[in-house]
Amino acid sequence: MPWYSRIAGWGMAVPRRVLTSRELAQQLRTTEEWILTRTGIRERRIAEPGETMSDLSVAAAREAMARAGILPQDLDLIIVATSTPDYVIPPVSSIIQHKLNARCGAFTLGAGCTGFMYGMAVAHAFIAAGLMRNILVIGAEIISRNIDWTDRNTAVLFGDGAGAMVLQASELPTGLLSFVLGSDGSGAEHLIVPGISTNAVITEETIRRKGHLLRMNGREVFKFATRVLGKVAIEAIARSGLAPDEIDLMIPHQANERIIEAACRELGFPMEKVFLNLDRYGNTSAASIPIAFAEAMEQGRIREGDNLLLIGFGAGLTWAGAVVRYGVRPEDRPIAVENWPVRLPVSLPDLNRLEPVRQAKVMALRARRQLLQTAMSLLLPFYARTRRRR
Ligand code: UT7
Repeated sequence: MPWYSRIAGWGMAVPRRVLTSRELAQQLRTTEEWILTRTGIRERRIAEPGETMSDLSVAAAREAMARAGILPQDLDLIIVATSTPDYVIPPVSSIIQHKLNARCGAFTLGAGCTGFMYGMAVAHAFIAAGLMRNILVIGAEIISRNIDWTDRNTAVLFGDGAGAMVLQASELPTGLLSFVLGSDGSGAEHLIVPGISTNAVITEETIRRKGHLLRMNGREVFKFATRVLGKVAIEAIARSGLAPDEIDLMIPHQANERIIEAACRELGFPMEKVFLNLDRYGNTSAASIPIAFAEAMEQGRIREGDNLLLIGFGAGLTWAGAVVRYGVRPEDRPIAVENWPVRLPVSLPDLNRLEPVRQAKVMALRARRQLLQTAMSLLLPFYARTRRRR
């Protein structure tokens, strides 16, 4: 029975149109220098009229499936993370499923910029439980259509794009080794499109007040992001059973270079081990991590057996972290099913890599669970019989 979810394929797609920070400086009260030094962004991609979020998703998904060597018919599930679907109803996941000619279930998931990480965690849960084999996870946005292009606070930050991954069942210790998910709705108003809501109908007044566009309290989100990035990194690494120096590459949500630098400084995590591509795409929200992963692969920054730390944060407010192994290391071996705990823990410790004391503790825990399971299986039929008799 398969337990791990390996990254079998990845892909990305971005619109062709490049909007440079220099161009933006000509239309906004800002300068190219300000944008670059305060955010690290040189340019971003903007969808042309007629270009849809589902089209970008399908292009990224096809690339991911080709790399995984699977056909749309092989998919067991499609998860699409986005805040900017083609329509509010129907779910864009069904549009994507249809365009891909896949026959499986599909759903759309909203967790702001953290959505893709939530999607990975859900996919992993299905695979780890042995219920599914191939799951396509997509993170995609056309956020430019919700941007107020006169607001220098938000217009300089965001861009459009899509990224996709195929997670596939594997018996070898690979893929998601741990994950952390978080949410704090008390900060909901810091990053919000206030006017597109079921609480009120959209009127001309809504549009006049730009209620259909994104509003952000940049300073608050900045503070939250710097705080949460370090916290999530520590938690995800601890749950993976790895030591911090065993992380080969961090792929953070590409929001602002200063957020990432500040958090890494605090953590003592070297910037040489951090992958950044926000200079070319800006913040693509739910698409940012899978796009960064695809580019890191393309640039040879990820090798077989590397341990990656993925960290997302954004609207909600939400956050997530995961330690993900790409491929396998030479010493990695399948772990016998009978050695797995009855209930899967959030992290899956590789016994061979633990210190002897922890190794003994994990083995004792597993033995206890095994004993409990055997006792339960012996007692349950007896219990059922006595209940029937009563
Ligand atoms: O996916 C998560 C989503 N969002 C984020 O992660 C964004 C988090 N926040 C940020 O990245 C930063 O807060 C911003 C880039 C949005 C702003 O940078 P900052 O260094 O935090 O600037 P600030 O908000 O502290 O503002 C400093 C000054 C203000 O002027 P005053 O009030 O001091 O006169 C702003 O009006 O910079 C001004 N400012 C700008 N000036 C030139 C804000 N945006 C711009 C701009 N060009 N584009």
